[in-house]
Amino acid sequence: MLVLGIESSCDETGVALYDTTAGLLAHQLHTQIAMHAEYGGVVPELASRDHIRRVLPLTQSCLAEAGRTLDDIDAIAYTAGPGLAGALLVGASVANALAFALNKPTIAVHHLEGHLLSPLLADPAPPFPFVALLVSGGHTQLMAVHGVGRYELLGETVDDAAGEAFDKSAKLLGLGYPGGPALSKLADRGDAARFKLPRPMLHSGDLEMSFSGLKTAVLNLVKAESPLDEQTTADICAAFQEAIVEVLLKKSLAALKQSGLKRLVIAGGVGANRQLRAALDDAAKKRRFEVFYPPLSLCTDNGAMIAFAGAQRLAFAQAAGSFSIQPRWDLSSLPAVQ
Ligand code: KG4
Ligand code: ZN
Repeated sequence: MLVLGIESSCDETGVALYDTTAGLLAHQLHTQIAMHAEYGGVVPELASRDHIRRVLPLTQSCLAEAGRTLDDIDAIAYTAGPGLAGALLVGASVANALAFALNKPTIAVHHLEGHLLSPLLADPAPPFPFVALLVSGGHTQLMAVHGVGRYELLGETVDDAAGEAFDKSAKLLGLGYPGGPALSKLADRGDAARFKLPRPMLHSGDLEMSFSGLKTAVLNLVKAESPLDEQTTADICAAFQEAIVEVLLKKSLAALKQSGLKRLVIAGGVGANRQLRAALDDAAKKRRFEVFYPPLSLCTDNGAMIAFAGAQRLAFAQAAGSFSIQPRWDLSSLPAVQ
């Protein structure tokens, strides 16, 4: 069964073709980073208009890459939420129009379920059950994943998401948008020991997290050290990254302990962070648990995870068939399929 996946929830247009027997056949991405950069963040109306421009050419080049035609497609999965309403509507409209023309079903996919299941596209893929650390620009959650749609929330951030903290701190440091990767790159040249930043809620005794205080601490450092020279900026980046990685690591270890599970899966954009990966790999060796990541190119938003999540639901006949978007959508409201 061949599933076309369309992602358009924010600032990336992603299209992919996933075959339930042959695996991922093609995936193509257009990032709007350059377009939004001059505004210092995502401009929703510009995002929607750009998705309109990109989605069909990307679909065509995906089909060409996979050596398939529109007629080969069995179902169309699209991100129905959460995300920017106008941006979501582009993917939803194109998916439903194509599905109508081809007389095939559509599947409305939850963006976070896409992220959550994306490590299953890796080789080897983690078997269920596992603990998932979902760290994106908008969410930071620890979940026990028992199957597709069987997600048990163990803990989450009470304020900013980890990716949001990266982006906001990067902005305070003048590193532009989106700041996560830029901050992380600069951190490699910094001395993490020069500044001591807080580890909020590290000892809260539960799996809740908080990152907004860390951003405020960065703001205070920026004020105290201004004008910032390059080395000081790098040192603040290193201290920030060390603090956030320590919190994510310790909370993930606590989630493994609490759930009794021995597999940890990382999903979402911050999962691309090299220091986080190194810290988790190191802990996995010492503490004898397994850690899985999506392929690096599938950590941030992409169409492959949407095609894949759609295929999982389709396998259990959960095609939606209706035209819907949900800019706010609670992951726990999804039905379990296995
Ligand atoms: O999952 P994602 O692509 O989009 C959302 O669904 O939010 O995640 C984007 C987030 C941004 O906050 C970005 O700064 C962060 O992931 N990010 C990183 C890195 N690459 C992306 N944060 C830290 N280090 C990175 N290498
Ligand atoms: Zn995302």
